[in-house]
Amino acid sequence: MKNEVVGIDAGGTLIKIAYRVNDEWELQKIPLTDMEKVQTWIEDRVDNPVIHITGGKAETLRKSLPWPAEPISEFEATCKGVSYLRKRFNEDETYGDTYIITNVGTGTSIHFAGPKEYERVGGSGMGGGTLIGLSYLLTGIETYEEILRLGKEGDGRSLNVKVKDIYTDEEPPISGDLTASNFGNIMNMKNNEYENKDYIAAVVRMIGETITTMSVQMADRLNTDSIVYIGSTFDKHDHLKEIIGGYTKLRGKEPCFLPYGEFSGAVGAYMHEEPYFAEKKAERKG
Ligand SMILES: Nc1ncnc2c1ncn2[C@@H]1O[C@H](COP(=O)(O)OP(=O)(O)OP(=O)(O)O)[C@@H](O)[C@H]1O
Ligand SMILES: [Mg+2]
Repeated sequence: MKNEVVGIDAGGTLIKIAYRVNDEWELQKIPLTDMEKVQTWIEDRVDNPVIHITGGKAETLRKSLPWPAEPISEFEATCKGVSYLRKRFNEDETYGDTYIITNVGTGTSIHFAGPKEYERVGGSGMGGGTLIGLSYLLTGIETYEEILRLGKEGDGRSLNVKVKDIYTDEEPPISGDLTASNFGNIMNMKNNEYENKDYIAAVVRMIGETITTMSVQMADRLNTDSIVYIGSTFDKHDHLKEIIGGYTKLRGKEPCFLPYGEFSGAVGAYMHEEPYFAEKKAERKG
């Protein structure tokens, strides 16, 4: 019986699975808390799987699965998956072959990708986990869908201090509409009633602005104009995409929210050692 490859990216919050049937990708997310469902999902589809596994929870999941599993470096898998998905969706033609990858998962990892190489260049604890955790701390709400919905409805901008709030009597040296301090407006907090949705909106804005700033600075340092944003934190989160996309453009860079970008790690793990990468390796050696 033929062995069939299944790519898995077991992250700190969600397990992503990538599998191919008749040249079509089948992609699935399973919360880490439902880890046991991974085996059933695979058994329902594949008779004789060979697992290519990556992510911080790879070893934990690998131990629970009854099949052979090849561990693959998370950063390598992510960058390979992004490279494949960019070609698949023709984003490489639009944005060129040198770019920053900002992976907003539970936490955030930043990578540089060139035509033939990639490297992890930075990261931050400010990520999708911060969105859930800080929202919970401020409002007591822990359902992810509810956090998404409220964040969209709220407007927490008056919880922040803008540059023009500081430069009240003179022209600011940078745009007065930029945020000078996220959650810095204690006066407004004391004098106004805020709703849960406003707190969550302010959390989303803080995460979006911080992630953009880090990504833009990295792009400047590494001489590229393109930033590819991936990670499940963007899934159904148009509000966060608007903040990050708008601010990235304002800072003179080109944002790309890669379709299915959150599956980059799983797709890259699946494709490990496929001809495309073998070619890249040969090119690098040559
Ligand atoms: N159904 C969901 N349940 C929980 N979080 C979700 C869900 N959908 C999207 N998210 C968001 O996506 C984030 C996780 O993103 P992602 O799956 O890319 O990270 P991860 O790979 O699990 O973590 P890491 O790469 O940091 O180990 C969560 O922190 C949350 O903000
Ligand atoms: Mg991840």
